[in-house]
Amino acid sequence: MSPRLQDLPLRDDLRGLQPYGAPQAPLPVALNVNENTHPVPEEVADDILDSIARALRDVNRYPDREFIGLREGFAEYLGHGLSAENIWAANGSNEVLQHILQAFAGPGRRAFGFAPTYSMYPLLTRATGAQWVAGTRGHDYVLEPESAAEQVAEASPDVVFLCSPNNPTGTPLSIEVIEAVYEATDGIVIVDEAYWEFAPHEERSALTLLPGRERMVVSRTMSKAFAFAGARVGYLAADPAVIDALRLVRLPYHLSALTQAAASAALRHAPTMLRMVDEIVAQRDRISATVEALGFHAYESWTNFVLFSGVDDPGATWQALYDRGILIRDIGLPHSLRVTAGTEEETTAFLDALASIQSAS
Ligand SMILES: Cc1ncc(COP(=O)(O)O)c(C=O)c1O
Repeated sequence: MSPRLQDLPLRDDLRGLQPYGAPQAPLPVALNVNENTHPVPEEVADDILDSIARALRDVNRYPDREFIGLREGFAEYLGHGLSAENIWAANGSNEVLQHILQAFAGPGRRAFGFAPTYSMYPLLTRATGAQWVAGTRGHDYVLEPESAAEQVAEASPDVVFLCSPNNPTGTPLSIEVIEAVYEATDGIVIVDEAYWEFAPHEERSALTLLPGRERMVVSRTMSKAFAFAGARVGYLAADPAVIDALRLVRLPYHLSALTQAAASAALRHAPTMLRMVDEIVAQRDRISATVEALGFHAYESWTNFVLFSGVDDPGATWQALYDRGILIRDIGLPHSLRVTAGTEEETTAFLDALASIQSAS
């Protein structure tokens, strides 16, 4: 008989935990994990393929451990006077966050975030042996500077996660909250800007707060706006001393030569890669307006998804959409569901299906 998980000599602190498990069902309209549902533009795909082909010729050798070319590309993309020495990258921002926790959390330490927030923060925290502490949000999941700072001071964490804008609620985070939280802790403050490109263009990124704040880290990903989720590339900007700390915990050569080549090529075409962002934002706003017209409440979103409440039975609505070939996310918030903004066609399919389920109930 094959052994069961509970029969193995697993770490005590991992017993009973559930792995990350968003369903990966092969449905025609998949709007459940906040991907960019537009494929990489054809003209960019060719250039990326050429770069990967060139990298393949040297794949008998280990890649550049410091991925300097890619870091220069990210520094140029981010602007704000950043240079390669301010940049770190890994296989998805999940791995970037893991590196931070490995360096600054770990056994006997604490990481803190304001629930509900990205479900991987507690999982990554616990996997490093650290304790996860959850704070609370105000009305409509908004954070206010005073309450946020008080909660952080009280928890006295080693690492604070600020998701800006927040997943799974879409909620914007004000610059004042970030400043107040930074002052309230001696720990590392991670501002996770995974969805930043979908925020209003005139808004201030946390990148503007980096000068003089050596414990602040701003993380980003190519998975969302850049339509590159399958390539697994995330990155951050921080003081060079933070980057030195992350070098202590990364695996040698953690970013493959093929990943570096693909990401560098994609970055050279940033404006083309990002050209669907405005279209996705338009679909997001269309979802918000339409679900409101259907009698639900759409929370303000600066992301590529919408959380809406007023759903009598989220499990039943999720299933009814599933049965119509549409996959969205039941993230376990009362009477709420989350949907990613897709192409115009996908968004229409979702909205039509939701309207027909609503009128049948
Ligand atoms: C807030 C947030 N941070 C980080 C990630 C991880 O993204 P990736 O590992 O694909 O870069 C996600 C993915 O959904 C996310 O929502």
